[in-house]
Amino acid sequence: MSDEPTAEERALIAAARAAMAQAHAPYSRFAVGAALRLIDGSILTGSNFENASYGLSLCAETVAIAAANAQGRLREIAMIAVAGGGMDAAAGTDIVTPCGRCRQIIKEAQDMAGRPLTILCAAPTGGEMRRLTLDELLPHAFGPASLGIGPD
Ligand code: THU
Repeated sequence: MSDEPTAEERALIAAARAAMAQAHAPYSRFAVGAALRLIDGSILTGSNFENASYGLSLCAETVAIAAANAQGRLREIAMIAVAGGGMDAAAGTDIVTPCGRCRQIIKEAQDMAGRPLTILCAAPTGGEMRRLTLDELLPHAFGPASLGIGPD
């Protein structure tokens, strides 16, 4: 790991790892947990939610961000952690990064928050972690500004 995580970052990664246990992932057998740190320090989580019609499955990051929105707290997201791994093997040490669709969803959250979001990409176990910006994950992103719309 290049930088040691702070206590706040460690707590958020722990919450993302805990959320893996709630994954509904009988088809892929790949559990993902996401945790959002809000500006007041509270944490909201999400887990991947698959569907027998596979393409309808929802990623953990999307579930977590939609949960924040449902609580009226979309603009309060400050940091995101994601962790995931196969359910049929021992907890691995490979980090998970958000899929392309989730990067676009995070873009919406970042633009509504009006501040850069840090995305912590972690593994189910071990100290490996990447601390990434959305610009690194999704350069040249399309967003509300592309439509001439700012956060309201
Ligand atoms: N998944 C997530 O929840 N987040 C990601 O960013 C990557 C993929 C889920 C979707 C599916 O339920 C499983 O991981 C395997 O792709």
